[in-house]
Amino acid sequence: MFDDSKAGINHSPVWARLHQHQRATRFMQMRELFQADPQRFERFSLQLDGVLLDYSKNRITERTLELLIDLAQEAELPLWMERMRSGERINVSEKRAVLHTALRLPAGAALPLDGTDIVPEVHAVLQRMRLFTDKVRSGQWLGYAGQPIRDVVNLGIGGSDLGPLVVQEALSAYAHPDLRVHFVSNVDGQHIARTLERLDPATTLFVIASKSFTTPETLLNAAAAKAWFLRTGSPADIARHFVAVSTNTQAVAAFGIDTEHMFGFWDWVGGRYSVWSAIGLPVMLAVGYDHFRQFLDGGHAMDTHFFSAPLAQNMPVLLALIGIWYNTFYQAHTHAIMPYDHGLRRLPAHIQQLDMESNGKRVGRFGEPLDFDTGPVIWGEEGANSQHAFFQLLHQGTRLVPCDFIVPMNGHYGLEQQHRVLVANCFAQAEALMRGKSEAEVMAELPALSGEELDMLLPQKLFPGNQPSNTIALDKVTPYTLGMLMALYEHKVFVQGVIWGINSFDQWGVEYGKQLARRILPELDAAADAPAAHDSSTLGLIRHFRKTHG
Ligand code: F6P
Repeated sequence: MFDDSKAGINHSPVWARLHQHQRATRFMQMRELFQADPQRFERFSLQLDGVLLDYSKNRITERTLELLIDLAQEAELPLWMERMRSGERINVSEKRAVLHTALRLPAGAALPLDGTDIVPEVHAVLQRMRLFTDKVRSGQWLGYAGQPIRDVVNLGIGGSDLGPLVVQEALSAYAHPDLRVHFVSNVDGQHIARTLERLDPATTLFVIASKSFTTPETLLNAAAAKAWFLRTGSPADIARHFVAVSTNTQAVAAFGIDTEHMFGFWDWVGGRYSVWSAIGLPVMLAVGYDHFRQFLDGGHAMDTHFFSAPLAQNMPVLLALIGIWYNTFYQAHTHAIMPYDHGLRRLPAHIQQLDMESNGKRVGRFGEPLDFDTGPVIWGEEGANSQHAFFQLLHQGTRLVPCDFIVPMNGHYGLEQQHRVLVANCFAQAEALMRGKSEAEVMAELPALSGEELDMLLPQKLFPGNQPSNTIALDKVTPYTLGMLMALYEHKVFVQGVIWGINSFDQWGVEYGKQLARRILPELDAAADAPAAHDSSTLGLIRHFRKTHG
């Protein structure tokens, strides 16, 4: 069992040394670091297969990294990596192993869990998914009117939505030309209503994706889909039009889905890490088994790197440590993710769940209070659009906002000039954020100005710079590089959780709101002035609904 006798990491000497180092270097300008060291990019970048990580535009020196690596050692990171890899129950509050990496292992690998090798089970499900998706994609799987499936609707939320949604959109260049995949997640009826109004039940397949198969949003959408389907199809036709992805066989059967058409996974796969499991079924339907396998292989390549590379040359570890540098020692509250790729536009939302549901915790893994800040607010939007929205604040606002730029070197759609403009914008933003614009540079641009006009305009045209960023350049968004990218962020989040002493794999914070919603739901239908035990605001809102609804 784990040793819970250690004082929090913030009481360690290396934590204090990092604070000291931050104080000593906080006025350091990245622009000067680049001037002083023409090799800085070579020194602070890494390449693996089709992925380049440039972390040179950070307020770091070699000493910073040394100290951060000492911090990782202090937190026993290598030991925790091995614990995760080997299937120890590191999700202590739920007593579960954390083995999404096992989903990406190649056939022939072995990983025993409680005395049973889980790799054959993983591959057995993949093969069932393959048989099924091949049939749908080739037109052999027929709907009740004898026609092939044309639309797939994934009903799921959180990890049962965001992961597959991102991957399916990112890989649209690989998608089946005659099969459209839709994602419905919100319990707001307009989401499913507006999706279904364009579809034909005879050619539509629903994938009900829920690890627990108890999530009300998903079950309500599934019931609405079933009712819509039964307007034209018969109950006997449900088997051809509804499949489930879940760990809960009983609940799937109770919903009326033949468990022959259920694709299972395991409690050692967390929801936000589940796109690699049968939750990836809509992706496999869209892009086919071979591309899905390449996606898994990319994830596995990142796993192999993560579990074997020295900490100082380890992409996820470096990303995590640099994040901690700002979050903990500079007290940056947020971290922005900017994919310069339209297909990756929902990646920030996926990473938001991955990071904030994992590390948005105020107690350590043994329940001890943590008296330092943990996970940052993750946010972001696709570039170049975001340049015309919130970049002003990044360039001239008052806050430190570390950013990740993600950009492919090659596009898929043959619009070469547009791709060049996209890439140029991405590189330019990272450069501008780093170097800023000095007084002398502004003056050179405003030679004719003087006096009060100059006093007024000059400060407004200055850019302080020194705003840090990482750039992750993919050769191209392929299933393989996308797998690497997504696994990169998973491991980054894990490393940060280990260093802060968090269990990154539970999410108790999500439960309370669900509990209260269950209580409020019947109260909405009570008589207008019926009492309900709430604060006056919540009660006032409930009464307002009773008065104005319907
Ligand atoms: O929001 C909480 C959560 O439990 C997520 O972790 C999960 O991805 C999502 O709900 C959906 O859960 P399920 O797949 O069980 O429907």
